[in-house]
Amino acid sequence: MIFSKPVLFSAIQPSGNLTLGNYIGTMRHWSKMQDDYECLYCIADLHALTVQENKINLKKSILDTLSFYLACGVDPNKSIIFIQSHVCQHSQLNWILNCFSQFSELLRMTQFKIKRKIEKNCAKRTSAALFNYPILMAADILLYQTNFVPVGRDQKQHVELTRNIANRFNSLYGNIFTLPEPLITQYGSKIMSLLEPHKKMSKSDVNKNNVIFLLDDIPNIVLKIRHAFTDSEMPSKIYYDIEKKPGISNLLEILSSITNKDINVLLKELEGIMYSEFKNIVADSLSKFLFKLQKSYNNYRCDESYLKKIAYEGAIKCQLKSEKTLKNIHDKLGLITFFK
Ligand code: TYM
Repeated sequence: MIFSKPVLFSAIQPSGNLTLGNYIGTMRHWSKMQDDYECLYCIADLHALTVQENKINLKKSILDTLSFYLACGVDPNKSIIFIQSHVCQHSQLNWILNCFSQFSELLRMTQFKIKRKIEKNCAKRTSAALFNYPILMAADILLYQTNFVPVGRDQKQHVELTRNIANRFNSLYGNIFTLPEPLITQYGSKIMSLLEPHKKMSKSDVNKNNVIFLLDDIPNIVLKIRHAFTDSEMPSKIYYDIEKKPGISNLLEILSSITNKDINVLLKELEGIMYSEFKNIVADSLSKFLFKLQKSYNNYRCDESYLKKIAYEGAIKCQLKSEKTLKNIHDKLGLITFFK
């Protein structure tokens, strides 16, 4: 045991502006987990290199992301917040796990297939890192003997792969790794694009009207919600049905997640109203919610020395914890050391 409580690990790659999907899919759960779990919240900057083109943006994105972690209620006195590249044990375990991963299982990763298709369409070459990306994620998780991983639905397959790699390693070397479980909520684990609700809301979407960014200004948020795709059912009726009414169902999931109200409770309250009125309610709730979040974010973002202190202290804690797992693995693998 390297921690006294069950361990929870989550991360976001700072590859651009964070979206409402990131918030609803994972960040909104983080603060309430802090009392019951040993929480590690990581900024996956090495993952961001797989898609990153501009190093100045990456620096900014890392600090933006860190500020959002704090604004969402992650308390550095209760949880560990750290930047992945500050803890070199992640890269070391990444290599070792590469030796226990199979080419064919990586080829099956849906996220890789999607990203590769996008890169091909833009005439970009696919890096080996994009292919190996889920193994670094497995290293992140397994390094701390993680029990739970709160993620959106798109990352479920990666956590399953992590379990497979851990199982393979354990069957050869004994019970080295804890098998992690994904924590995925029924609603809000896949927020969809506003204009094309059959696809995931994603920070890399070329059509910015598909996406609510956490830093969008309020009038823009209202416009985006008002223009969101619904459907032409007559007479218009608000109910939850992903297949028949993907647009309305998506807006219901958004409203339910930010108000913490059950969808069935919302449906009773919304009975008989028109789509336009429904959108006004969503836009109003979301604007109020994001206004508060942005205010808190701005307070943290302007204090870079505080942000650096948090990241430094987090890294030191993680280095100490992860070194224990890594030493044990080196020992099992027969890698010798002449250093104390
Ligand atoms: P990333 O940066 O793409 O997304 C971060 C988190 O946000 C969730 N998410 C969504 N949830 C609901 N609806 C959406 N539209 C939506 N878009 C994104 C993702 O599921 C994710 O939970 N590989 C990871 C980062 C990572 C990680 C880890 C996660 C690196 N190491 C270890 C967990 C554990 C990624 O690229 O997430």
